[in-house]
Amino acid sequence: MTASDTPLLLIEDVVKRFGGLTAVDHVSFTVKSNSITGLIGPNGAGKSTLFNCITGIVQPDSGTIQLDGVKIQEKSPNQIAQHGLGRTFQTPKIFRGMSVRENLAFAAPVQHGERPVSTLIHPQKIKEEETAVQSRVEDTLEFLSLDHLADEYASGLSGGQRKLLELGRVLMLDPDLILLDEPMAGVNPALTNELLDRLHELTNRGRTILLIEHDMDLIMNHCDRVVVLHNGQTLASGSPSLVQDDERVIEAYLGDVIDE
Ligand SMILES: Nc1ncnc2c1ncn2[C@@H]1O[C@H](COP(=O)(O)OP(=O)(O)OP(=O)(O)O)[C@@H](O)[C@H]1O
Ligand SMILES: [Mg+2]
Repeated sequence: MTASDTPLLLIEDVVKRFGGLTAVDHVSFTVKSNSITGLIGPNGAGKSTLFNCITGIVQPDSGTIQLDGVKIQEKSPNQIAQHGLGRTFQTPKIFRGMSVRENLAFAAPVQHGERPVSTLIHPQKIKEEETAVQSRVEDTLEFLSLDHLADEYASGLSGGQRKLLELGRVLMLDPDLILLDEPMAGVNPALTNELLDRLHELTNRGRTILLIEHDMDLIMNHCDRVVVLHNGQTLASGSPSLVQDDERVIEAYLGDVIDE
């Protein structure tokens, strides 16, 4: 295997139980650099729990998770973030009482200036850091077409705009791998297309995306690879067309509809 074949993310035999319930049940798959991978599956399949395992919010009971060749499953969420992983949540985590611009600035990595002693010792360095953060905020506003909303309170944004802002907060950390939990849910079609455009642009810029999504058309049209979870297990994985025709996948989704 050459270096370029090494997956950016490796999930191997990961298990997470909540009491008697096995939410993630021996899941294995890999995510290649510069790709968009879709993680799909019916409600309760274990998708968000797997994201929580990858980001260190919950500890898997067993299995291996490697980011860029480094085992991350015993690290804290902060250490994992510093190692190049960013994520959004199913319900956006933004500060409603702050403006869009402030939300982005606040998401920047911890600065010297936030420590009182450093402020006294390195005033010039702190000024430079502040300027760098400001310029990153402006770039992010422009990248996500949020410039016109920069001074609005986050509480005044639509659901879709909040999702964009949450993505912006993740981008402030400049992660290599970005995990998105249903970023298009409740987002209008125009904004969804805008968001998809940005995701493709991010992969062009060397970033890698793992995306939870329920919209099959969107997954089939925009993902390089798809992983299907069902009852905590990997039901299928491969190219969108391969997964789409997989009998087990069709059955899992039809079963879900009939159950409702
Ligand atoms: N903290 C927790 N404590 C107990 N059970 C949990 C916890 N988190 C998730 N679960 C259970 O684990 C299973 C998987 O949940 P999870 O949220 O990962 O599913 P999901 O695939 O993200 O579903 P959805 O599409 O509805 O978001 C569900 O049965 C859920 O009730
Ligand atoms: Mg979920």
